[in-house]
Amino acid sequence: MEKILYQLKKRTEKINLPSNLGFGQIFTDHVFEMDYDGEKGWINPTIKPLESLSLHPATMFIHYGQAVFEGLKAFRTKDENVVIFRPEKHLQRLNNSSKRLCIPEIDVDFVLSALKELVWLDREWIPTKKGESLYIRPFIFGSDPVLGVRPSASYKLIILLSPVGAYYPEGFKPVKILATDEYVRAVRKGIGECKTPGNYAASLYASEFARRQGFTQVLWMDGVEQKYIEEVGTMNIFIRFKNEIATPKLTGGILPGITRDSVIQILRDWEMKITERLIPMDEVISEYKKGNVLGVFGTGTAAIISEVGLLKYKDMEMKFDSKQSNDLALKLFDKLTSIHYGLSEDKYNWLTHVTKKEVAIA
Ligand code: COI
Repeated sequence: MEKILYQLKKRTEKINLPSNLGFGQIFTDHVFEMDYDGEKGWINPTIKPLESLSLHPATMFIHYGQAVFEGLKAFRTKDENVVIFRPEKHLQRLNNSSKRLCIPEIDVDFVLSALKELVWLDREWIPTKKGESLYIRPFIFGSDPVLGVRPSASYKLIILLSPVGAYYPEGFKPVKILATDEYVRAVRKGIGECKTPGNYAASLYASEFARRQGFTQVLWMDGVEQKYIEEVGTMNIFIRFKNEIATPKLTGGILPGITRDSVIQILRDWEMKITERLIPMDEVISEYKKGNVLGVFGTGTAAIISEVGLLKYKDMEMKFDSKQSNDLALKLFDKLTSIHYGLSEDKYNWLTHVTKKEVAIA
């Protein structure tokens, strides 16, 4: 692979982050970019100042959605170290999404080294309060300026950085969720397990429908029978039954969440019974009626852990009192964030440290 080219921005004024960061509204000074050429492979790796793209109106992904992305986070630990949470896993998942979308794979080690350079360069942008982080958005899109439907021959990869706070406007408070069998997000054997724009476009109509009724997000049911619960908004879902914590198994229609995977490992370590299985909505309702559902929560990189305070399906409203029943979500949130900020031991080796020694950039 070629050497990274550096075009650096000269910043004269101090970075001034607002107290409420929101999500994905502020961007750092630099991006990493790389192009794919059908003959030469991945070329032109460059770290450069963030600027708008100039694209031909026929650029393929705009019309046919041939694109993939990731979302991962960097943190500043209590000792002022810069760390990234499970970056290899995210870049491997990017490659898995790419395969399904006929996009050429990246060299994970090379892109990880470029990512470390970029994060180190823009490290002053990493916020420090609990729940805040530097959100990292790598994405790849088909860039041929052609209107025929086929895989693009050329691509662009960009890594964008954004200091973020809580994902939901509620902050880290419990969210209200509407379950629906009217619309589906994805079907098995489709692209539901890929992080690709089409899945998010498919979610918008139902999400807006839920939002208009005062809900934060939608709980998606499976795309075949609309019987089993699958994902909640942009997150994976966990149901805390009395004797078991269950999360939908990865059927192909569900995103294999990295926070989901981390939570499963932590719960196993806590010797709690965690199962990955099909979860019928009818079972959730009947167990709730018997008092056997102690809590529901979502997991995702952006939201981390999000407690569900209210889950509505048809005429059934299931309410969860976060103080009494859902303390597990809070415990998991604390566990994950304490790993993020170096407050508890990283026994799973989830943190990639970015230090001055490792980067080429001064
Ligand atoms: C994530 O949790 O990383 C997500 O996928 C949410 C993102 C689409 C904003």
